[in-house]
Amino acid sequence: MEKRVLSGIRATGRLHLGNFLGAVMGMLELQNSPDYETLYMVADVHTITTPFNIEELRKNRREVIIDYLAAGLDPEKSVIFQQSEVSEHLELAFYFSSVATIARMQHLPTFKEKVKQYPHHSTMALLNYPILMASDILVYKAGLVPVGIDQEPHLEVAREIARKMNQLYGTDFPEPKRFATKGEYIPSLTGEGKMSKTVAGSFINLTDSLEEIRKKIRSIPTATHAGGEMSEGVKTLFKFAELYISNEAEKYKEEFNKGTLQFVTLKDAISEAIYRDLQPFQERRKKIESDQKYVDKVIKEGAQKARAIASKTVKEVRKKMGLL
Ligand code: TYM
Repeated sequence: MEKRVLSGIRATGRLHLGNFLGAVMGMLELQNSPDYETLYMVADVHTITTPFNIEELRKNRREVIIDYLAAGLDPEKSVIFQQSEVSEHLELAFYFSSVATIARMQHLPTFKEKVKQYPHHSTMALLNYPILMASDILVYKAGLVPVGIDQEPHLEVAREIARKMNQLYGTDFPEPKRFATKGEYIPSLTGEGKMSKTVAGSFINLTDSLEEIRKKIRSIPTATHAGGEMSEGVKTLFKFAELYISNEAEKYKEEFNKGTLQFVTLKDAISEAIYRDLQPFQERRKKIESDQKYVDKVIKEGAQKARAIASKTVKEVRKKMGLL
């Protein structure tokens, strides 16, 4: 049987390079392999677990779908949909919450980080975040999830829920595993932590021009003189070198060790390679943006296909739990 795959991205804005390398590249690889049946959604319901703006949410969830299509996700090969349109995710999440403890959810690093970031919005929705994510995956009985390394604690929760449900109710949920890419952890351009939409100056947008990319890559903090111990900023730079100009990365590293490296040369070479890589995406995005009817069609058909699978799982669970 084909292995089922599910992944999603929140509707917090347009995608950045971290989302692209950590998640979308894996989504594409699995979509284009005949061994997998792929479902990719925009996690619009997850977006309401932290403070949000109604109009922005409405706009952003569509932008994510457009980004997906521009990146090469293909509705002929993948089911592309909006999470909120398949209410079975929410129903199953409630059933799952009966096998997940409050203490387990409170101890997740992602929960703690968000509480620190939004101390006045420590809501039940936020606490339930990983349970809804487990439901997103398991409502399709997906065994493989292309996401960045930061999502690993959430997948661990999904595996625990699958195990508990199977033990208690005799369901046949798989224990979902992460599908990793080379870019599973893209560092921030600030030289501290990971690339993230919520940290200003940390990210490159997929629609950035060469000028913008150059300016951003040049802003990565690097020591004035090459050589010696690598600072976080220098490590970040070499990470991009390995991803984008792998043939020349060794040469630049040698120059760094000898103390002859001109950082700006390396930075500009990386910027040009990133831009070159993003150009087809940017061109496709413009075309798709001008055909909103096509986007509507993709969203509508995606929801229908997703619902057909999800409703079966929910029915099965209700029966096994004595609710039907
Ligand atoms: P989100 O919206 O935070 O991030 C989207 C995806 O991008 C990856 N990512 C990164 N990868 C490498 N380096 C980075 N700096 C970087 N920043 C972000 C994330 O790992 C993620 O894959 N909980 C999910 C959304 C979700 C989901 C799901 C995912 C909801 N339900 C079901 C898979 C399956 C999230 O917050 O992603």
